[in-house]
Amino acid sequence: MKKSEFEQWSARATKWSTEYIGSLNDKPVRAQCQPGDIAKLIDVSPPETGESMDSIMDDFEDIIPDGMTNWQHPRFFAYFQSNSAPASMIAEQLATTLAAQCMLWQTSPAATELETCMVDWLRQAVGLPGEFKGVLQDTASSATLAAILTMRERALNWEGNQKGLSGQPRIRIYASSRTHSSIDKAMWIAGLGQDNLVKISTDEQFALKEDELRKAIADDRAAGYLPAGIVVCVGGTSMGATDRVGEVCAIAQEENLYTHVDAAWAGSAMICDELRPMWQGVEAADSLVLNPHKWLGASMECSAHFIKDPETLVKTLAIQPEYLKTHGKDGLVNYSEWGIQLGRRFRALKLWFLMRAYGLDGLRSRIRNHIAWSEKLCKRLRAEPDFQIVTDPILSLFTFRYAPGSSAQSELDELNLRLVNALNDDGRIYLTQSEHEGMRVIRFVTGQFDMEERDVDIAFDAILEIARKL
Ligand SMILES: Cc1ncc(COP(=O)(O)O)c(C=O)c1O
Repeated sequence: MKKSEFEQWSARATKWSTEYIGSLNDKPVRAQCQPGDIAKLIDVSPPETGESMDSIMDDFEDIIPDGMTNWQHPRFFAYFQSNSAPASMIAEQLATTLAAQCMLWQTSPAATELETCMVDWLRQAVGLPGEFKGVLQDTASSATLAAILTMRERALNWEGNQKGLSGQPRIRIYASSRTHSSIDKAMWIAGLGQDNLVKISTDEQFALKEDELRKAIADDRAAGYLPAGIVVCVGGTSMGATDRVGEVCAIAQEENLYTHVDAAWAGSAMICDELRPMWQGVEAADSLVLNPHKWLGASMECSAHFIKDPETLVKTLAIQPEYLKTHGKDGLVNYSEWGIQLGRRFRALKLWFLMRAYGLDGLRSRIRNHIAWSEKLCKRLRAEPDFQIVTDPILSLFTFRYAPGSSAQSELDELNLRLVNALNDDGRIYLTQSEHEGMRVIRFVTGQFDMEERDVDIAFDAILEIARKL
């Protein structure tokens, strides 16, 4: 493709994108293909000579969309949504055109300064105090890994990176049993080991038991371990489990431990004042992650990582070989020193477009609607004699199961798995299953940017119709 043809092909891509967004309602939500269906349509080897853009675009249109799960579909009720509001998509196109590598201020001054401003806009939007600074990581997994590395280095007096972990006391990190697997993975990658993530059980409100936490820390100290930090859960993945943030942070302060709050999904909802009691006490945390790419509407890879004392993060992650030094420019922010990656995309642009195009009020009303519509569906299912609500809505997430008659637990588990699969094969909606207190449950979560109330009504009809045909 010649540079001179850029406009022509970019127009075709825009036309395709516009038609795609406009036709989502009529498509199945989850991809309906089988494993291997797409790979067998792709040439086994790369071409030696260039092909025409016409045939490349034709193949894209013929092969790829039917092999995709449609994450922007208004009836995507599975996992947590990964939104891409139209204004954010435009920003992504522009960022791709600039194709900047935003590792240092010098390599991308506007991207760096916009990032500082956007993280601060977001801080104000969710009501965090001004002392929090931040950075846009690709994902919450990276932010949490950075936080766990910070806990490790802080506990080892900043010597772990240099000396390694051998011969050091065994570091312990604490989290509720309902936290996301990204915390476990961060323990593996940080070299701390799964066994040193101490999982604290939760009470009837699904919050970490503080007494058990205190005891675990005391027992560990007595046994010669080195407690380093606590990961606090706000809006867990399975059913929205949430710790009492203020109380957990108070224990951390007494024990001189670092706290990191995982609010990857629920954090976006904190733009609504009335929802903030959910993370009451969060101002005492050392760091926090929330994903605007989950519920706020920013395109994928936009994870806001707030840190009260960025110096701790930079001391953990900054590395400055000669080629990365920006001589004579001390005091500048180089965001690659605040995360795992060296090379980084221009992420702030999509947040700037998003917040300006919809305004905080527009974003709030979407979140409030999602919560109200999820509650509506929950109420309708509760009224059906053969359905059980297993966990009540936490924000826009609840779990339920189909429980006709008096079947044994194992039969109900199998029946609910069949129901999820049948619903996803049907294509009108997309749901995922989870496990709660030993039983298989179905998760339902609203949050797609452009969904409407009628989408949960369609979900209700589909669930009842398909369940009763099983
Ligand atoms: C509560 C929670 N934390 C962390 C993550 C990991 O997020 P990411 O995909 O941005 O790494 C998820 C993903 O759904 C999550 O639900």
